Amino acid sequence: MNPLIELRGITKTWPVTSGLFGARKRIHALEDINLDVQVGEILAVLGESGSGKSTLGRILARLETPDQGRYVLRGELQKGRARHQKDRWRFGSQVQMIFQDPFASLNPVHSVGYHVKRSLVLHGQKADKAGEILDSVGLRPGPGFLEKFPFELSGGQRQRVAIARALAVRPALLIADEPTSMLDVSIRMDILNLLKDLRAMHQLAILLITHDLPSAFYLSDRLVVMYAGQVVEAGPVAEIRQQPAHPYTQLLLKVATERIAKTVEKPRDAGMLTAQLRETRSCLFATRCPKVQDLCVKAGPALIRMGTREVRCHFPS
Ligand SMILES: Nc1ncnc2c1ncn2[C@@H]1O[C@H](COP(=O)(O)OP(=O)(O)OP(=O)(O)O)[C@@H](O)[C@H]1O
Ligand SMILES: [Mg+2]
Repeated sequence: MNPLIELRGITKTWPVTSGLFGARKRIHALEDINLDVQVGEILAVLGESGSGKSTLGRILARLETPDQGRYVLRGELQKGRARHQKDRWRFGSQVQMIFQDPFASLNPVHSVGYHVKRSLVLHGQKADKAGEILDSVGLRPGPGFLEKFPFELSGGQRQRVAIARALAVRPALLIADEPTSMLDVSIRMDILNLLKDLRAMHQLAILLITHDLPSAFYLSDRLVVMYAGQVVEAGPVAEIRQQPAHPYTQLLLKVATERIAKTVEKPRDAGMLTAQLRETRSCLFATRCPKVQDLCVKAGPALIRMGTREVRCHFPS
């Protein structure tokens, strides 16, 4: 079966001005990303701050244009940003995105009903389904929420509204960029469970962007681990969980087990910027790798297929 989404050779860089005379350098947010997303699959994209997760999500949502590469959705080539209204609607009926901060993504002067109905109507559906959709995301009874305003809701309820609005158009892919990181720890699990149920109900593919390994393990079928714009390891969750092959994945796993369920972000590592600017020929992870050897410093490894997995390491476990 053809994948829902195929990304081939996606690269995205950003200019930075730094150093004497403002020398132009470029941050590599994404480098040569090849990724397939299957219908109904939950894929988690994992990595610390700056690894390129949101950039990947934004390119998939066509909010950003890659410098290079091909993006194919259901066999159709997608070109850059969806600029025209008609293109946006057509694309939006297949791919939707939700964000970290549900308050920022809802308009405070409009009711819950307005948000969901507008999404329905824009995509040619009947507005009277709004109550039912709210019900399906756990805001029950749905019709009772229609007249409420965002400020009257809790963070978790607001995120449910954002999910309802995204799902109103019956997309094939939902991109969720850190959807629980601003929510109370106590309700994070509820939102993850909701996403899990929605996948089962609607054959919805979900791209979960997170730096929280436990959430990724809990929800996803497949993991993509990123570091400084590169995929360093990708494969089935169960396998990676049991035996992570890349030293970076091993580190993430170790940190996750040691500070159980604590998802605070660590300050960005100094080696990360050098890596992002590609001011090194070494493996980008070499400065932090506990297993670094001479070869790693001489040349960075390619992403190699190992059975069901892909790993970018000269000395994978
Ligand atoms: N619009 C932009 N202009 C300049 N640089 C950008 C822009 N968007 C992203 N970047 C840079 O690209 C790199 C990757 O950013 P991205 O937001 O994709 O990382 P991330 O993995 O989502 O991090 P976080 O966990 O902090 O959300 C970062 O170094 C970031 O500063
Ligand atoms: Mg991000």
